[in-house]
Amino acid sequence: MSRRNLKYIVGNWKMNHKLADIKEFFTTFSQSRAELHCHPWIAPQFIHIPILKELAFTLGNIQVGAQNMSHAASGAYTGEISATALSDMGIPFVIIGHSERRNQFKEDNELLSKKIKLALASDLQAIYCIGETAIEFEKGTTKEIIKEQLHQGLSGISDCHKLLIAYEPVWAIGTGKVATPKIAEDVHAFIRNELAQLFTSANEIPLLYGGSVNPENISGLLSMPNIDGGLIGGASLKAKDFLSMCHQARPFARS
Ligand code: PGA
Repeated sequence: MSRRNLKYIVGNWKMNHKLADIKEFFTTFSQSRAELHCHPWIAPQFIHIPILKELAFTLGNIQVGAQNMSHAASGAYTGEISATALSDMGIPFVIIGHSERRNQFKEDNELLSKKIKLALASDLQAIYCIGETAIEFEKGTTKEIIKEQLHQGLSGISDCHKLLIAYEPVWAIGTGKVATPKIAEDVHAFIRNELAQLFTSANEIPLLYGGSVNPENISGLLSMPNIDGGLIGGASLKAKDFLSMCHQARPFARS
């Protein structure tokens, strides 16, 4: 079965939600009886992963993952969390290189490449985030930036069967300015072409779009042939909206 048959609805909760909010989220979620035909994934704050796993377990197919991990394998890195620890705790996926990590924590392609290698070596599914800033978009250098992020971040990686890519234009994150399905698809098609130069099975890599996705705009984005899901921040925090997006994610009929 192709990794791209079902769409991915990935909630990036960032540094939000308290225990009570999480319980409320799952109470609402559990009231919906309709079956989901997508991959519903959520990445909460690290400390909330165990409780989410417990609550999500009773609901079946929600996968709970991490928003980040260390670039080092183990040792004296106070405050960091290793890929091995994530894998050992049964965490199935990790987000790597979110633009907030790139901007606020100065993570560059070289460092992110180390993280991706460690994640894949620990059998985690790695969602590698790429995307241009507003200035780069206006200058028309989107594809140059994306190309560099892909080739540098993925250099030395030969096995892509646990890799996912999230295209998140920085100007669209948390701004309400979503990329049109046409703009996003154009970049996604470009990404797939670039990936084909790196991997023989590039066609199997799920490509997610992120940046101001919500229940109103998701179906247009997901209808595009190279958009295999969404990485969703703000709109994933409320169960009603997250569920609505999951319900709009229909399996893609590929020829
Ligand atoms: P947003 O965030 O959906 O709130 O724009 C997306 C992201 O940062 O992954």
